[in-house]
Amino acid sequence: MIGVLNTPGAFIRIKTREISETVGDGLAINALSGGVDSSAVTMLGHRALGNKLKTFFIENGLMRQDESQQVASLFEGLGIPIEIVDAQEEFFNALEGIIDPEEKREAVTQTFYKKVFGNLVEESGAKFLLQGTILTDVDETVAGIKRQHNVFEQLGIDPQKEFGYKIIEPLVQLRKDGVRKVAAALGLPESAYNRIPFPGPGLATRIIGEVTFEKVEIVRKATEIVEEALEFTNAFQYLAILHEDKVTGMKNNKRVFGQQIEVRCWESVDARTAQPTNLQQWVKQILVKEVIDAIPSVVSVTFNEAPKPPSTIEAI
Ligand code: XMP
Repeated sequence: MIGVLNTPGAFIRIKTREISETVGDGLAINALSGGVDSSAVTMLGHRALGNKLKTFFIENGLMRQDESQQVASLFEGLGIPIEIVDAQEEFFNALEGIIDPEEKREAVTQTFYKKVFGNLVEESGAKFLLQGTILTDVDETVAGIKRQHNVFEQLGIDPQKEFGYKIIEPLVQLRKDGVRKVAAALGLPESAYNRIPFPGPGLATRIIGEVTFEKVEIVRKATEIVEEALEFTNAFQYLAILHEDKVTGMKNNKRVFGQQIEVRCWESVDARTAQPTNLQQWVKQILVKEVIDAIPSVVSVTFNEAPKPPSTIEAI
């Protein structure tokens, strides 16, 4: 079951028609991050609109290692041109000095929707933004758990008034497992439809305290190591978090007041609830050594053992 529709094929037919009717003769844009939600929307949107849809990859400085080039080349291989927009400075400026988790999320949201998409809409003459909001994003935002970066109307915010364009959300009835089925039926390769989730605000959700360029570099390196080491688990999601608190450690026989990385590995179906994966000790030991060897400032690596709830999947 795909939302209220029975099969991925029926879902795709109906949504393609809806998108095409809504946009009419106009133009639309969408932002692709390479996650399964935005990848599915990109495929669906191009099926519905062809060259009336322009797709951008927003380089916000908060993505994983080499992500923009990898995602752009995957989609170019599928015949969909992607324009990479460098907006790193805007995002780091907006995040400067903010430590409160919800304020950080709000800063990322405003930078995406007001600044970056606002400019792209103005330059392209588009009237619509197509995006991959899913039901879990709406649920968590409306329940006041986390303000997901891509939820507006359900909070009483009119994107037309606030940002100057309309938002189309073809996946909003689906959860992650439903999106994966639709993405596979749209012809995306398994590396795209089975990709582990990655949040819209990116590595900013994995840094406790202020988000700085230096901290992003550290958590990006840790993320790369964790993703490589835990891919074999086939877990729902695995990630690294950089803590604010430092602890005393020793490296090269010298005392270091060093940083702490927390690793989370989750079993889940739809991200509403999740349990920590039961990782074997040797897996943890290899992972810890790799993180400590690769990142000089890190002296402690911990593993989260609490389920969601009360934990959440990301750190902020
Ligand atoms: P939490 O941390 O709330 O995450 O347990 C649930 C799932 O949602 C992803 N996530 C986001 N996805 N925008 C997104 O598109 C966001 O702002 C956002 N925050 C969290 C998270 O990675 C997990 O899969």
